[in-house]
Amino acid sequence: MAAIHSKPQLIKTLGSVPSRFGAPRKPTSLRCSAARPLHPRSYSITLLPGDGIGPEVVSVAKDILSVVGAHEGIEFFYNEMPMGGAALDAVGVPLPEETLAAAKQSDAVLLGAIGGYKWDGNEKPLKPETGLLQLRAGLGVFANLRPATVWPQLVDSSTLKKEVAEGVDLIVIRELTGGIYFGEPRGFGTNDKGEDFGFNTEIYSTFEIDRIARVAFEIARKRQSKLCSVDKANVLEASMLWRKRVNEIASEYSDVQLSHMYVDNAAMQLIRDPRQFDTIVTNNIFGDILSDEASIITGSIGMLPSASVSESGPGLFEPIHGSAPDIAGQDKANPLATVLSAAMLLRYGLGEENAARRIEAAVIETLNKGFRTSDIHSSGMVLVGCKRMGEEVLKSVDSQKPIVAVS
Ligand SMILES: NC(=O)c1ccc[n+]([C@@H]2O[C@H](COP(=O)([O-])OP(=O)(O)OC[C@H]3O[C@@H](n4cnc5c(N)ncnc54)[C@H](O)[C@@H]3O)[C@@H](O)[C@H]2O)c1
Repeated sequence: MAAIHSKPQLIKTLGSVPSRFGAPRKPTSLRCSAARPLHPRSYSITLLPGDGIGPEVVSVAKDILSVVGAHEGIEFFYNEMPMGGAALDAVGVPLPEETLAAAKQSDAVLLGAIGGYKWDGNEKPLKPETGLLQLRAGLGVFANLRPATVWPQLVDSSTLKKEVAEGVDLIVIRELTGGIYFGEPRGFGTNDKGEDFGFNTEIYSTFEIDRIARVAFEIARKRQSKLCSVDKANVLEASMLWRKRVNEIASEYSDVQLSHMYVDNAAMQLIRDPRQFDTIVTNNIFGDILSDEASIITGSIGMLPSASVSESGPGLFEPIHGSAPDIAGQDKANPLATVLSAAMLLRYGLGEENAARRIEAAVIETLNKGFRTSDIHSSGMVLVGCKRMGEEVLKSVDSQKPIVAVS
């Protein structure tokens, strides 16, 4: 799974290590610092700031990546390229060939957000969103990773009762390039009664299921080793094959506890008792819906990162929010979703677990100190803008001791 750990690395298995919230996690594989090369490890990162608040939040994440890199002996080379509305204005297409080429050649891609009122009326091929679809297709990213973490400091922002939301820390792994959104045949027709109909095809091959299942098992293994596969195997043939193949792949991961759940039950359970989930894997359409449902539990769009990865080649890391044109250019955006996307880039794109933890620990410390952008602000907290939030995270990064002492 080269895109999950795209660089060759020496791995050492440690005992119990602290999780983001201080509770011990299962034994985790980490890079062994004693075996690090003398020269800094170096990676090329394509930055796609995009539109609206995109450039503001990417700039913050870039500074934090650089400083974390300096602490961890990692060097980053950045290549900033136009994308979305910015690219439409500059060269007339939402994803210039040069941008896609640069993204493909790099180790990882960090995207801000694309879109805005200015391009809303464009024809489909000239919409900023079309560029994003082209980028995902061009990179061949078939696994979408959407964590939903209820930060203890922000638990009151959740739409659920505190006792239900507290401690939620799950990830939805959605198959991104197959299933009913792409299945053929699809289209419109007219039946013998002269009525119009529309139809789509839910279809999955063994290959498609096996590769997303392996991504999910690998990720579950790095978390609580609990994987729940969500399907509709009581009705849909595509889901029956899904369940059969996931069970088959499970034999390669005897350390991961696998369960299955029907999607209608999963939708209920996510609201009733979300803490029961650690890692969820599901198909494209169910994942689309469940990952949005899971994200709303956290209550704050400005805190939610995401990743899209393939088996080989660079992954795409981006906040789940859009370009927020209503607050663009006003230094009001919450940069933490992008900062946490940079942490995902380090963990899932480059295999740099310690550096990822450094970022997450700095975000926690910054929230603990009471700094809040307006989207997550509550009384008694210190209201800050996008830049100041970035500066406070940087201060926390600088004041950290090594996150995990690895010998
Ligand atoms: N992946 C992407 O780049 C992406 C995703 C969704 C929407 N979009 C595009 O973004 C544009 C705006 O879409 P929208 O308004 O539906 O969604 P949005 O996510 O941009 O904004 C929704 C609301 O959340 C707020 N918000 C979003 N991110 C925030 C942040 N980091 N900090 C503080 N507040 C934040 C906004 O101010 C707005 O009130 C549209 O053109 C849409 O197509 C792009």
